Amino acid sequence: MTTPKKLFIKTYGCQMNVYDSERMAEALGGEGYVETKDAEEADMILLNTCHIREKAAEKVYSELGRIKPLKERNPDLKIGVAGCVAQAEGEEIMRRQPAVDLVVGPQSYHRLPEMEARLREGKKALDTDFPEEDKFDELKARPKAKRAPSAFLTVQEGCDKFCAFCVVPYTRGAEVSRPVSRILEEARALIDRGVREITLLGQNVNAYHGQGADGSEKSLADLIWALSDVDGLERLRFTTSHPNDMQDDLIEAHRDCPKLMPYLHLPVQSGSDKILKRMNRSHTADSYLRLIERIRAARPDILLSGDFIVGFPEETEEDFQATLDLIREVNYGYAYSFKYSTRPGTPAAERAQVDAAEADDRLQRIQALITQQQQAIQQAMVGRDLNVLIEKPGKFDGQMVGKSEYLHAVHIDECKAQIGDILPVRIVEAKRNSLAAVSR
Ligand code: 5AD
Ligand code: SF4
Repeated sequence: MTTPKKLFIKTYGCQMNVYDSERMAEALGGEGYVETKDAEEADMILLNTCHIREKAAEKVYSELGRIKPLKERNPDLKIGVAGCVAQAEGEEIMRRQPAVDLVVGPQSYHRLPEMEARLREGKKALDTDFPEEDKFDELKARPKAKRAPSAFLTVQEGCDKFCAFCVVPYTRGAEVSRPVSRILEEARALIDRGVREITLLGQNVNAYHGQGADGSEKSLADLIWALSDVDGLERLRFTTSHPNDMQDDLIEAHRDCPKLMPYLHLPVQSGSDKILKRMNRSHTADSYLRLIERIRAARPDILLSGDFIVGFPEETEEDFQATLDLIREVNYGYAYSFKYSTRPGTPAAERAQVDAAEADDRLQRIQALITQQQQAIQQAMVGRDLNVLIEKPGKFDGQMVGKSEYLHAVHIDECKAQIGDILPVRIVEAKRNSLAAVSR
């Protein structure tokens, strides 16, 4: 019997990369690879990269510089770069770091087995096409051991919005939705392996418009309703959404579909109409706030989360104050804020940049406000009766950790529940990054 080859994958960036790394591991599993957590013993190292912000490519090159010496110890070691930096940089990666054997863009992962065969012949392999064939079909999840109770499932990829700061439309390509039947099939396979909660992923997930069984186009709400009929699937979430694609049927699903969790990530990026216009966001602060009102009317307890960029070109203190005002008005349960970073090839990269120290200062101020809101919302959970999907044992003996409906991490001492159970609890304490509960 030959010993299996070892694969080490390092994943950067978003949840879609986490999902993609799992699929790549499965695709290479068919070629005799098993995953390892130790890069030093690997026969193949794959960096699944992210290009969304700050010096992403430079970080990848320095990581490659650290990995390269491992080839001296294991001359058969293959080094690959996947993800959005691979897409954006292409051949340049092999030019700058000749130790790299493989470069594969996000739309070509299903071709990894063929590419790996090339590597075995001592050749290099590069593929950053946007192929015609459906990579998901080719990457069908192979039956595998039991999985964690919460899983990601990509339903949509790419983006047609072209926000002026964002590389996604260039690295992930145009919007594509997977057909409903394929998604149902993958969901059932996940449930057979112990999954109880699925987060539907897409760069612009609420623009989903996949083909239904009857050939007609289905919305994300239609897809959610179809999934909610699947036995054994208890919880549904989706991310990330654009305000302009928040259709009525999706808002109604938040009101009417018991399996759809009361949590919505709806980035607005800025509270200033001038900046929103320059960002090419095609909504205003006011239209966003009115949308939030409608969502809250449908599901009053929904927990909102968002993304913000500070220091976008031409953002003044007044524009920044408008963003803080919007945050105060919405009251976010979670929010992620980033300092604008130029992405070559995007329209905003050409514009006059905000002073770096000023942008740092704004980032600190926005983060202080967000933290304050998050803590207050977490504090307000104390005394509430929630349901926790148990995910893993906690740090202490007898303790289990899981997620509430609102995505807060909750830990329960002396917990008798098993991984995968949904346990009714009462929240007794809010800590900095989690809640403590007792079972009811
Ligand atoms: N600079 C800073 N933040 C960015 N994001 C996307 N592109 C950039 C950029 N060039 C942020 C947005 C987006 C999140 C995923 O990353 O807020 O919603
Ligand atoms: Fe990027 Fe999101 Fe804008 Fe698309 S909608 S361009 S993914 S920020």
